[in-house]
Amino acid sequence: MALFPDSVKKVLVTGGAGFIGGAVIRRLLKNTSLQIYNLDKMGYASDLTSIDQVIKLMGIDGYGRHELIKVNLVDAKATGIAVAKADPDLVIHLAAESHVDRSISTPLQFIESNIIGTFNILQSLAKHWEKLPIDRRKRFRMIHISTDEVFGSLPPQGQFSECSPYDPRSPYSASKAASDHLVKSWFHTFGFPVITTNCSNNYGPWQFPEKLIPMVIMKAIKNKEIPIYGDGQNIRDWLFVEDHVDALLAVSAEGEIGRSYCIGGINEISNKKVVELICSILDEQRPKPSPYSRLIQFVPDRPGHDRRYSINPKRICKELAWKPKYEFNKGLQDTVHWYLNNLDWCESIMCKSNYKGERIGLQ
Ligand code: NAD
Ligand code: TYD
Repeated sequence: MALFPDSVKKVLVTGGAGFIGGAVIRRLLKNTSLQIYNLDKMGYASDLTSIDQVIKLMGIDGYGRHELIKVNLVDAKATGIAVAKADPDLVIHLAAESHVDRSISTPLQFIESNIIGTFNILQSLAKHWEKLPIDRRKRFRMIHISTDEVFGSLPPQGQFSECSPYDPRSPYSASKAASDHLVKSWFHTFGFPVITTNCSNNYGPWQFPEKLIPMVIMKAIKNKEIPIYGDGQNIRDWLFVEDHVDALLAVSAEGEIGRSYCIGGINEISNKKVVELICSILDEQRPKPSPYSRLIQFVPDRPGHDRRYSINPKRICKELAWKPKYEFNKGLQDTVHWYLNNLDWCESIMCKSNYKGERIGLQ
């Protein structure tokens, strides 16, 4: 794994109670000795069980290394206080509203968290950075985690790269695009040291069961209709979450300030194929008299549904020696296995957030 210089002692992870942030924090706990501050508003998709489990397993080595700072980035004053408390050498900014369907139903939350929230953390961090002693100031950086969705929808050919023009088409991707622009403008205007990453769809354990892969597993287990939007031929470029963590740590340790890095799984696959694969894995891991695929239903399409995403990750592969390690079939089998063994967690997080698996985002 990429190593941090000794001068890096404290890391602030925003959105660390979410799916990807949790995976980042678990890795930082296990593989570094950094002091970790986790700034999160503790929204509907937040949960600390996975982090608590790792800390418990680590015993004395994990104790006191992780601290939750429960703050909403929309609150500028509270954000400033949180940054002063964490006094970070490195910031990994993941906090955002992340579900496209919710951005169709409740767009204001996306404007607030993703745009105003990023503006507030930038303002607080820029102030913090200016006051750092020269050695810490030189090493300080913020990694801004974004998505391939800012580049819009691809035709059957072509790939996104760092040179692709921005063309967001959902309130989610538009709010993330705005946050990318803010971050880059702080670099150009104020010299603030930031690096942006644009990643494709992640999957793996501990993902809130509203996103495609855990949603399908939960519906199938409950013997409910599995909804595929439109004709199911929309394509995503799936990446196992631990591969994304590898990439983020490589960028944090060795990425070039002011640059952006596209991260993807080199793994394009249609939604229909993903759903069918999950059903066949379930047929093996939890057999029923008839195949799970009988539950598949094609339902009205998502408004503005992007057709295809595909990332060309050449830059990060070449410059930072990163590549995805998980083969999709294996990653998906492990993920299905994990959900089957953690159905209680899924039920409890859905119950806590009052989400019953209903369709969101039909305007
Ligand atoms: P998630 O929804 O599981 O977690 C996001 C976390 O951010 C939650 O714990 C939430 O409470 C927190 N948060 C949201 N708004 C906040 C605010 N205003 N103040 C403080 N905390 C706030 O999302 P995720 O899938 O872990 O995604 C994390 C980041 O990665 C997001 O920025 C997302 O845009 C980006 N991303 C996600 C994917 C993916 O496939 N999931 C792919 C590429 C990029
Ligand atoms: P999702 O997991 O919401 O991620 P994103 O919209 O960020 O790509 O959806 C992945 C794909 O699956 C997307 O093309 C929409 C589709 N989808 C369905 O077909 N049915 C569903 O119930 C959901 C939630 C998504």
